[in-house]
Amino acid sequence: MPEAAAAAYRVATYNAISARGLERLSASHFAIGKALADPDAILLRSHSLQLAEIPASVKAIGRAGAGVNNIPVEEMTRRGIPVFNAPGANANAVKELVLAAMLLAARNLVPAAGFAQSLAPGDDFDKRVEDGKKQFAGFELPGRTLGVIGLGAIGGLVADTAIRMGMKVVGYDPEITVDNAWRLPASVRRAASIEEVFKSSDFLTLHVPLNAKTRHLVDAARLAGARKGLVLLNFSRDAVVDEAAVLESLAEKRMRGYVCDFPSPALQGHPGVVTFPHLGASTEEAEENCAVMVAEQLRAFLEHGTIANA
Ligand code: MLT
Repeated sequence: MPEAAAAAYRVATYNAISARGLERLSASHFAIGKALADPDAILLRSHSLQLAEIPASVKAIGRAGAGVNNIPVEEMTRRGIPVFNAPGANANAVKELVLAAMLLAARNLVPAAGFAQSLAPGDDFDKRVEDGKKQFAGFELPGRTLGVIGLGAIGGLVADTAIRMGMKVVGYDPEITVDNAWRLPASVRRAASIEEVFKSSDFLTLHVPLNAKTRHLVDAARLAGARKGLVLLNFSRDAVVDEAAVLESLAEKRMRGYVCDFPSPALQGHPGVVTFPHLGASTEEAEENCAVMVAEQLRAFLEHGTIANA
């Protein structure tokens, strides 16, 4: 398509999208804006896109992230509108937060920090520091078993890094088929069943998309079969875990803790739970990588009709 035609493309954005990604579109003279009328494409991050927000002019949707559960993908497929995403572009950011979560759980860092902040100078200061050392003593990661459910770009990277840190890793992927098994990290021992992962893990991290098959993948029955003292890490989507089952397992002191990248009223203030405001992909680098990857896909599609990774 000639250069002049490209100048007419219009992209409506939701959420703050990294400037580097937007530059890829503006360099091709695309018009970009928040409430742009009659857009050719929509570019968004975590905004939950409703059908009513998708005008007839839209030819493609770009999600600057991995998950697409905030987009009505089935209806878009029916309409022949490709939905592009950025698999792997934020994998390192999520991996780093998973490692931080394991460390904060193993070393009791959240309650220990609260305790230290509350210490006021006084006669018994040294004694109280000694008490804190005892109360919050933790354990180290080498030799512990990490279960990884979902062995795509993020799960694979988490698994490889944990192995390099001296952990044992056991993996399971509900989506593995003969066709895509070659993508799995070679270093990960794969479990024969998901139950085996629960049974053998000290930490269990989830890296699956949310869909009908993965909703409440972590439920009461699976937690009942989990190793005592399990720390569950959820940096995928909140609904992959049945929160009521987690609270029950924590109450019965079977689970040691739950670290979750989604705040939830039911979990609020629970001493065994640490939540974050969906920070997994929130680094400068990941935001830039995702935005650039998706902007390039939108540009290639609108200018040349090329579909990569829809
Ligand atoms: C993802 O699916 O990759 C994340 O939800 C990205 C984000 O936080 O925007």
